[in-house]
Parts: sequence; C-alpha cells; structure tokens
Amino acid sequence: MSAPIKFPTPQKQGSPAQQLMELARQDMAAVDSLITDRMQSPVGIIPDLAAHLVSAGGKRLRPLLTVASAALCDYDGSDHHKLAAAVEFIHSATLLHDDVVDESDLRRGKRPANKIWGNASSILVGDFLFAGAFNLMVETGSMEALSVLSKASSVIAEGEVKQLAALRQITITEADYMDVIRAKTAALFAAATEVAPIIANRSTAERAALRDYGMKIGLAFQLVDDTLDYGGMESALGKSIGDDFREGKVTLPVIRAYQQAGPEEKEFWHRVVVEHHQIETDLESAISYLRAAGTLESTLDQARKYASDARQALSIFPKSDWRETMRDLAGYVVDRIH
Ligand code: IPE
Ligand code: IPE
Ligand code: MG
Ligand code: MG
Repeated sequence: MSAPIKFPTPQKQGSPAQQLMELARQDMAAVDSLITDRMQSPVGIIPDLAAHLVSAGGKRLRPLLTVASAALCDYDGSDHHKLAAAVEFIHSATLLHDDVVDESDLRRGKRPANKIWGNASSILVGDFLFAGAFNLMVETGSMEALSVLSKASSVIAEGEVKQLAALRQITITEADYMDVIRAKTAALFAAATEVAPIIANRSTAERAALRDYGMKIGLAFQLVDDTLDYGGMESALGKSIGDDFREGKVTLPVIRAYQQAGPEEKEFWHRVVVEHHQIETDLESAISYLRAAGTLESTLDQARKYASDARQALSIFPKSDWRETMRDLAGYVVDRIH
C-alpha cells in the first residue's frame, strides 16, 4: 500500500469562507431573509419540504460568491441580493432533484427530502424553487443577468443528463468527465460570479475575469467532492461516502486508476462498474486501488491547479479585502472537508 493520502484538513475557525461570510454578513442576512420569504406558499408541503433542506444549513457558497463579486465591483444597489437568492434557489432545486436521481441517503447531515416526503413531492418542490429563482431574476429587470442564469440552468440539466448517459462506462475520457462537471457544477458558480459585474455595469474584461474565477472554483470544488466520495468523513461531509461508486458513476480518480490498472484490477472495475455487480467489501477494495494508484491525490492536485487559476483571474481587480478573501476562498475550496 502506498503512503496515506493527505486529505484536505477540516474547516478551521476563521477559514476564508468564514471571513468572507463575516465581510458579507449584512448582505447574507438580506439574502437569507429573501430565501425564507420566497419559500412560502399556502400549499403546506412546499414550505415544510423546502425548510427541511434550507434549515439544514449548506455552505451558501454560491450566493456568497455573488455578493462578494458585487462588492468587488463596487455595486451599490440591492439587486445582488435577489440574484444571490436566485442562485441558491437554483442550487437547492438541483439538490432536491439530484437526491432523487442519485437515491442518496444523506443530504446536509439529514435524510434527503425525498426519503421523507417521497420523490414526487421533492421533484415538484424543486420545480417551485426553480420557478422562484426565475421570479427573483425577472424582478431585477436585468435581461443579461437573466440570460446568464437561465443558460446556466439549461447547462446544469444537460450536464446531469450527460452524466446519466455515461453511468457505468469505465472507459469515459477525462475530457468527457470534465465536460460533465463543467456543466453540472461549475456553470452555476460561473454564473453566480458573472451576474455581479453585469448589474454593476463593469467592463467586459472584468465580467470575463469574474466568470473565469467562478468557473475555476466550481471545477476545483467538484473535483474535491469526487475525491471526498472515496474518503471524506461522512459526519463532516453531511453526505454518504461511496455514493458515486454504488451508482457506477465514473469520476476522475477512477478514470485515472483504470487507465493504469493491470488485468486483475481492470477486471475488478469491470465487474463493479460495467456489470454493476457489487459486494459489500468492494468499496473498500476500490479505495485501496485508488490509494495505490495515487489518483485521489492527483485529482486533488488538479483541483489545486484550478484553484490557483481562480486566484489568478482576480488580478485584474485592485487589491482590497474582498479580493484577498475571495482569493483565499479559492484555496479553501480545496482544503475543505465541509
Ligand atoms: C453540493 O454542493 C453539490 C455539488 C456540486 C457537489 P455543496 O457542497 O455546495 O452543497 P451545500 O449547499 O453546501 O449543502
Ligand atoms: C451535484 O452533483 C448536483 C448538481 C450539481 C446538479 P452530485 O450528485 O455529484 O453531488 P452530491 O454529492 O450529491 O452533492
Ligand atoms: Mg448527482
Ligand atoms: Mg448526488
């Protein structure tokens, strides 16, 4: 067995995410109250189910990026709160749908809503939240922001379908995998940051820089998430370990391990992924193969590269507390557990 992998260290007090949250405290309070307000409906299941997910916490990373980007752009209106709430609504809707598709057992440390209210309610409340996001966007009157976030919404759905079609395909290429994560995860991060310079009327170059920052953070974030599925601590992650493996979802650590595997290991991956025939000890064996191949570590290295690109993208902005904390956040995305 090779040396143990250095997994990201747990979130510390005063982490960049917390520092950014502190800087954005008033903005995030406004965003939270919009979220609570727009979850309401006379149809009781809607607020109950939505509150189950929303009150479970969640990092609020995407809306935080929207308000931080707005601050970086010296935006002085209040539409960024609506856009940030819309971003979190889109994210929440995709989580409700995702837990149905993935048949997950844990979300934000709790039973997923569909395991309590059923798949139908979860899907429909997801639709309600999606629609709520669009209402919020329309209220800002920014056609460009609406365009960016609605395009991101179609790209996310496309990414989820592409991923579904790629299930149990052990020979999926790195390029195809990157297309999936760019679509299902990074597109929303990119839109979350891009809408800020749009409503602040900033230059095309600044808009491109913030979009690039969000995109690279999103890629790093999903790469880390995919390594954590094979070794993070369930309690800290608030999600089950091994979901990807059980679903036959082929992520970067597996793609890379399979490429360099000998005949016996190839046979293993074929059985558990392609034939989808798994026994209880297989997850443990998979983790051993990935560790021996060093591909969890190499995936984290890839994430670190994207985080460094994200930091670089902000060079166009003058130095400020916001910029420095946003830069630090790029590193935190890789060094997180939660
Ligand atoms: C979960 O996102 C979905 C992925 C893209 C991996 P987060 O890890 O940001 O979820 P919450 O909002 O903090 O629960
Ligand atoms: C997250 O995908 C859902 C979307 C980005 C739409 P995953 O299925 O990989 O994320 P978790 O692990 O359930 O949070
Ligand atoms: Mg999924
Ligand atoms: Mg999932």
